Amino acid sequence: MARHALPTKALPATDILDTLAGYRTDDADYRGGRTWSLVYHVEGTHEELVAQAGELFLESNFLNPMAFKSLKRIERELVDVAVGLMHGPSTATGCATSGGTESLLLAVLSARDDARRRRPWIRRPNIVLPATAHVAFDKAAHLFGLRLKKVRVGADGAVDVRAFRRAIDRNTVLLVGSAPQYAHGTIDPIAELGAIAVKKGLRLHVDACFGGWMSPFLERLGVAIPPWDFRVPGVSSISADLHKYGYAPKGISLLLYRDVELLKPQIFVATDFPGGIYASPGLLGSRPGFPMAAAWASVHGQGEEGLLALAKEAWTAAERLRAGILAIPQLRLLGAGHHTIVTWGARDGAVDVYAVADAMTRRGWHVDRQQLPPSVHLTVNANNLPVVDRYLEDLRASVAEAVANPDAANEGEAATYGTMARLPARGLVKSAVADVIARSYDPTAPEQDLTEPPEGLMGKAMAVMPRLLRRWERLVGERA
Ligand SMILES: Cc1ncc(COP(=O)(O)O)c(C=O)c1O
Repeated sequence: MARHALPTKALPATDILDTLAGYRTDDADYRGGRTWSLVYHVEGTHEELVAQAGELFLESNFLNPMAFKSLKRIERELVDVAVGLMHGPSTATGCATSGGTESLLLAVLSARDDARRRRPWIRRPNIVLPATAHVAFDKAAHLFGLRLKKVRVGADGAVDVRAFRRAIDRNTVLLVGSAPQYAHGTIDPIAELGAIAVKKGLRLHVDACFGGWMSPFLERLGVAIPPWDFRVPGVSSISADLHKYGYAPKGISLLLYRDVELLKPQIFVATDFPGGIYASPGLLGSRPGFPMAAAWASVHGQGEEGLLALAKEAWTAAERLRAGILAIPQLRLLGAGHHTIVTWGARDGAVDVYAVADAMTRRGWHVDRQQLPPSVHLTVNANNLPVVDRYLEDLRASVAEAVANPDAANEGEAATYGTMARLPARGLVKSAVADVIARSYDPTAPEQDLTEPPEGLMGKAMAVMPRLLRRWERLVGERA
């Protein structure tokens, strides 16, 4: 493909905007409620307000809070609001980050460096966490040299507390629970994990990246949510993403701590840089003001009443989806069902989940396929409420289609996902996925259709594997 070149002369503004708008043609249709993750869109004037507020800070740089005192104030006010919602004590504090992943990376970094100071004998620090904890912890362990001790979860997706306690050893520097976890929307037993943290004198981070800005409002609606925030003794930090249920554009999360001593280890200071003494509380250098101001506008533009109304619609949509899915004999629900994530899978091989997913894609839905076990994830928002009936209608038709054509499981994306999810050789899957990504960055490689099986060994495996793997699973299942 020819390289894109810088135009010699400035392009007219209308051409630029038309071109960029054209680029979006094939993007996921989040406005119509047909995506179930990625974007938390609010209908009406919300988007305009948030954009205008962000624009006021378009070129600000939070690298230097002395130069941009406004952003420091915005950060503090957002933290205050979150601490109030999450019942933090008067000592509670926190900082803005670029998203959930950065919040989790910093929570890990802070725990590791604190332990380095207090328990210098630890050579290989570890984190004890549920097997369902977000993959950003894997990234943190990879980047910062920690080991993960993943603990099994029960049938409802909540971590097994006894196994959790047993996994802790003298090298453990951090305990983690999710509220809720992404895959099934289950809140871990934070109260029990908190008691363990207190007893062992360890930090407990609650990953409320997803639920932090939704759970307080579900509680107000009377939804029975297990305790998850600073009300639980032992919870030392909480991450809560404003760019999820805070309805801000991407690029902002908050990392809250019970007190500033817990935050302190994440602060990076370099004293010998010729460019001056350099200090930063996060992973980034320059930090955009846009998402911070937009987030401030978002939560103040909604207020408690607005966030409550949005939560009510999202909850209603989630409950209607759960009821509709339960009524489809071939499907089952995964998770505890106490949040705004709905996850469905198949009942005992009644249908191939990925074949149903393909049929839903053909009907124009953006589908988030999951594994272990094969399932489909729906993050439910207020703007999904108007399309719930349509979704269920299409789901019933898609299940019927997949049942009528069992070969659909061996074709298209169903074959790709089916193989990727089931193949026991995870190293092969890992390198195949990395190859696909690398090829997307290789200017000499032909453009790829990501819905087609990849080239090489993995591609060859996909031609035969889905059938073999399902047969193997059935055999193992019968023997068990
Ligand atoms: C529970 C949970 N934690 C962390 C993250 C990571 O957030 P981000 O994608 O903003 O980095 C997500 C994202 O979906 C999540 O659901």
